[in-house]
Amino acid sequence: MKTRRAIFPGSFDPLTNGHLDIIKRSSPLFDEIIIAVLNNPDKNPMFSVEERCEMIADILPAIGGNGCKLVVDSFSGLTADFALEKNAGAIVRGIRAVSDYEYELRMALMNRRLQPDIETVFLMAAEEYSYVSSALMKQVFTLGGRVEGLVPESIERKMREKLGT
Ligand code: PNS
Repeated sequence: MKTRRAIFPGSFDPLTNGHLDIIKRSSPLFDEIIIAVLNNPDKNPMFSVEERCEMIADILPAIGGNGCKLVVDSFSGLTADFALEKNAGAIVRGIRAVSDYEYELRMALMNRRLQPDIETVFLMAAEEYSYVSSALMKQVFTLGGRVEGLVPESIERKMREKLGT
């Protein structure tokens, strides 16, 4: 039987509980999900792509995946090319609010134009994470605010280490 493989692409700088929620929701739908970390040094990320992959790999065993294999990988270039290279049939993206939809729709249509056989699958994030984004977590944390419950504990620790707090 064909493996139902999906990629879940993103910057994950850092991974939030909103991302984890999407991974958990998508795992019953696929046999394998590749959490695909974009290598985007030009965006001046808080964590290097290696650090982000390592942080995610540390968390994945605790999620389990319930029969769905969860792996982490990094990529540069087009998401659609990476999905093809990995023989994935789907690209998973989370939608938090209507405001995400327009950007996500444009991206999904472009990815479909690039790779017509690869479908984008949108999943609705849990309401409690509807305002959670990596950018907001970094801003709040950097300015001394609390982010517990919004990012995994191990990631909050890494953020503290990074800022030397
Ligand atoms: O977590 P993000 O920043 O919302 O993820 C955005 C991401 C990485 C999915 C998007 O920027 C992307 O796919 N970048 C790779 C380049 C690409 O394929 N661009 C065309 C998408 S239509």
